[in-house]
Amino acid sequence: MRAAGLEKFHTPLVVEEVEIEEPRAGEVLVRLAASGVCRSDLHVQEERSPVGHVPMVLGHEGAGFVEQVGPGVGGVAPGDPVVIALYGPCGTCDDCRAGDIADCWSQTRQNNALGLMPDGSTRLSLRGQPVRPMVGSGSLAEYSVVREAQVVKIHPEIPLEAACLAGCGVTTGIGAALNIARVELGSSVAVLGCGGVGLNVVQGARIAGARRILALDTQSSKLDLAANLGATDGILIGPETDPVEEIQRRVPGGVDYAFEVIGRPQVVRQAFESTRAGGTAVMVGSPPAGESIPIDGRLLFSDRRLLGCTGGGNIPQRDVPRIMDLYRRGELKLEELIGQRLELDDVNRAFEALVEGELARSVVQI
Ligand code: APR
Ligand code: ZN
Ligand code: ZN
Repeated sequence: MRAAGLEKFHTPLVVEEVEIEEPRAGEVLVRLAASGVCRSDLHVQEERSPVGHVPMVLGHEGAGFVEQVGPGVGGVAPGDPVVIALYGPCGTCDDCRAGDIADCWSQTRQNNALGLMPDGSTRLSLRGQPVRPMVGSGSLAEYSVVREAQVVKIHPEIPLEAACLAGCGVTTGIGAALNIARVELGSSVAVLGCGGVGLNVVQGARIAGARRILALDTQSSKLDLAANLGATDGILIGPETDPVEEIQRRVPGGVDYAFEVIGRPQVVRQAFESTRAGGTAVMVGSPPAGESIPIDGRLLFSDRRLLGCTGGGNIPQRDVPRIMDLYRRGELKLEELIGQRLELDDVNRAFEALVEGELARSVVQI
């Protein structure tokens, strides 16, 4: 099959022939139709991600159709439209059995994050060498073999180019607002960084009934998108702007919830400092490994909470269908997030767009 492979860090992706094996027990072969490109893909290319490895097929925001199922797969059948979720829990560890599926950190889940099956194997190879699919998904490809826990069946009427966004960006953003922060009706929210993920924090806050939603970004195009998705205020961040002051000026005392959706420790600090006493800041962006978050202990002492968040605390089989229902009811906008549509051969243009930063999402049609 053809796939967008990263052969070496810091080099463009190469669209090339990659060998793919048949699905084994508990596995599903998916024929991809669409895949979003997320900043985490760029983090891998730039050797800044703990889940990166070469060679690797990138992409982790895919949707398509089940092509074939391995022995023992009962939840999906060939022809079913599916989203490939960000990760598949193991289903058997103490956390999974207690229902804390989002907190599963079993060997299976850890391997999954690293692009490996539970036994450490992969179904992909390039010139005889094993290739890992990014976070077990590898959706910038014609096909992917994933564990059944990583696919979620969706309604056949949902366009797959919209559905694929539920693979990562939408689920993470909505989940950060609804699962992690649990934004309350009538509350005030600040979203620092309104890219593909942050715009969905804005949507999550709107769906939760937040009264005030402040969107902050360095790009005015992102603020326009945020306004269209429910932000009540847009704050353009220039080199001289102090986001904390701007937020506190609009919501005296600070906001109930602030989200950092970029991956920069200094901005996590700004998010934390813009909450009111008793407020909650959530770090949604993934910061570089080993970097500390500089926060003032007195502010934490004032009953503030700083929460971490991986993938929006999402439970694929619960959250993807919820997101799809919200979309079908018109409460969640997805097409509006797509800034450009590309062919697989032009995949590197999606990475250039991420560096330029003007578009919310690029979607590759496969
Ligand atoms: N203040 C405010 N906004 C900023 C700043 C800043 N100092 N610096 C960058 N931004 C904006 C960018 O203009 C962009 O709109 O942050 C946004 C980041 O969005 P994307 O690049 O689209 O990234 P996204 O895919 O949304 O991921 C955000 O979440 O899942 C993680 O790994 C991912 O760390 C990344 C984060
Ligand atoms: Zn992502
Ligand atoms: Zn588990």
